[in-house]
Amino acid sequence: MKDEERLRRAAGIPARILSETDSTNLRLKEAAREGSVRAPFLLLAHSQTGGRGRLGRAFLSPRGGLYMSLLLPMPKSPLPLTVFAAVAVCRAIEETASLSPRIKWVNDLFWNGKKICGILAEGLSDQAVVGIGVNLKTPENGFPGVPIAGALDCGADPIALAGCIARHLLALLSGPREAEALAFYRSRMMLTGETIRYTENGLKKNALVLGVDERGGLMVRDTDGAQAILRAGEVTVGSDQPFSSPDALENRHPQ
Ligand code: BTN
Repeated sequence: MKDEERLRRAAGIPARILSETDSTNLRLKEAAREGSVRAPFLLLAHSQTGGRGRLGRAFLSPRGGLYMSLLLPMPKSPLPLTVFAAVAVCRAIEETASLSPRIKWVNDLFWNGKKICGILAEGLSDQAVVGIGVNLKTPENGFPGVPIAGALDCGADPIALAGCIARHLLALLSGPREAEALAFYRSRMMLTGETIRYTENGLKKNALVLGVDERGGLMVRDTDGAQAILRAGEVTVGSDQPFSSPDALENRHPQ
């Protein structure tokens, strides 16, 4: 059976495979705008020359990895699409590769202390494109300039994995399954109880991670005792400032 047919069967939706493209997210958004594809649709590429990451970064996409984008009707959920996507990727990796990655808020997946997956969701007017990149194999020259990156290196079949991710994501979005997704997300979270650094309005802050709220926000307590909920951006594990004892924080900035 041809790979494209295998992918369609594994995903249960129309799908296309490109040998190489600049970015599957860009191509799928363009096709959706032109009206040449309709949701749900899956686009997979064996490599990308201009893979796009969050916060305007590049996503290194050599051959041997999994680069896919899914076109979906815009979900109506208080939980971000990327939370559902992180859950779907975790479940699919567990099912197809018997490995259990952890989730770093907001939607990076880590395995063996290295980032093995990134997710980038982009909105069109009434549709969304969710792009997922999974490093399946460490390239010969490693991941130059990206020391945090690693790979699953378990011989996973990209087509089977992509199909499984798509099925899980579509199933999660097909009904009111926020509570289930959130419970799974929390169970795989790698930051709860850790100290982190983040930047807010140009100010660098150190905080303790308390968990994830019902809308996928990261609940933190800053070193001065103030609690905050982060809705976007990026956090770094580790603190460069000592934390006050809980006693010293009592009655300060209750919210
Ligand atoms: C990140 O880690 O910042 C998100 C990376 C998302 C990468 C995927 S690969 C498939 C899709 N096409 C892109 O250009 N980006 C996403």
